Amino acid sequence: MNVPLLAMDGGDAADREDFRRAVLSGLGGSPRAIPAKFLYDARGSALFDSICEQPEYYPTRTETSILRECAADIARLAGPGCALVEYGSGSSVKTRLLLEAMPDLHAYVPIDISREHLDATARRLREDYPWLRVDPVSGDYMAIDALPSVINGARRIGFFPGSTIGNLMPEEAVLFLRRARRLLGSDGALILGIDLKKDPRLLHDAYNDAAGVTAQFTLNLLRRMNRQLDANFDLSAFAHEAFYIEAAGRIEIYFRSLRDQTVMVAGRRFTFAKGDRVHTEYSYKYDTAGIGELARQGGFSIAHTWTDPARLFAIVFLT
Ligand code: AVJ
Repeated sequence: MNVPLLAMDGGDAADREDFRRAVLSGLGGSPRAIPAKFLYDARGSALFDSICEQPEYYPTRTETSILRECAADIARLAGPGCALVEYGSGSSVKTRLLLEAMPDLHAYVPIDISREHLDATARRLREDYPWLRVDPVSGDYMAIDALPSVINGARRIGFFPGSTIGNLMPEEAVLFLRRARRLLGSDGALILGIDLKKDPRLLHDAYNDAAGVTAQFTLNLLRRMNRQLDANFDLSAFAHEAFYIEAAGRIEIYFRSLRDQTVMVAGRRFTFAKGDRVHTEYSYKYDTAGIGELARQGGFSIAHTWTDPARLFAIVFLT
């Protein structure tokens, strides 16, 4: 049996302590903010999968269709016998498109913060691709600095799809790229999916779906605090808020208090005036110039760019 080689999530108690610390400092600070990674508990991850199926949320299906078109090109650029390293191994559909285009892959190394998610993904992939060596690494992909030694000698190809890089502030995105550059090595490469700037109405709708799934996703953070931090948020007294700021090129997401209220979290009292909000996510959008600049500052150059006909989304191959 294959077990994760690097255990960096430290188990449940450590996760909870990490969450508690982040929430108390995030609600105590000004402006109030809670890091986006905490949105992804089991329920949050399931809600995110559901967001990806909403008609307004174009990124997932657009990126998947681009990948379908360019997987063979990517396999050629990567070359034979490489190791595919996925940052935040998410929806396996995109991964599978790559795996199927790369039958001579040396190994697939999914990195994910959720051990459960990682084990389930690895199990399914081993079943469906018996020839494939799967070596999961559990941990925060912003902090991983070593990979399983079984991939030593193989060219390392990173895969960071879904425009997850958009969750990072541009300077953090540059830091991420520099770390990736170091982890993947000087002959490595990184396949990056990035959401593009476009009509603000389309962007707005993608984060305000009519079925309210994105709202549930944001408010799930309150549910998680109630469950794990002994908080008493009234979910009907807060609302999801998401809007596009064109000058910053980003979607901003918050939960907003619908009335004056006091909430207990992990034994501390927090007051919210009506209209007060807590930041949960940024989702940065880039144009081609911005992607080029990001890559350059991160120590990469763009070997190839693929987009859909409507130029909603881009996949770049960075070397
Ligand atoms: C996973 C960060 C790419 O920003 O589009 C979607 C997260 N949040 N709807 C995005 C998200 C609300 C998503 N990323």
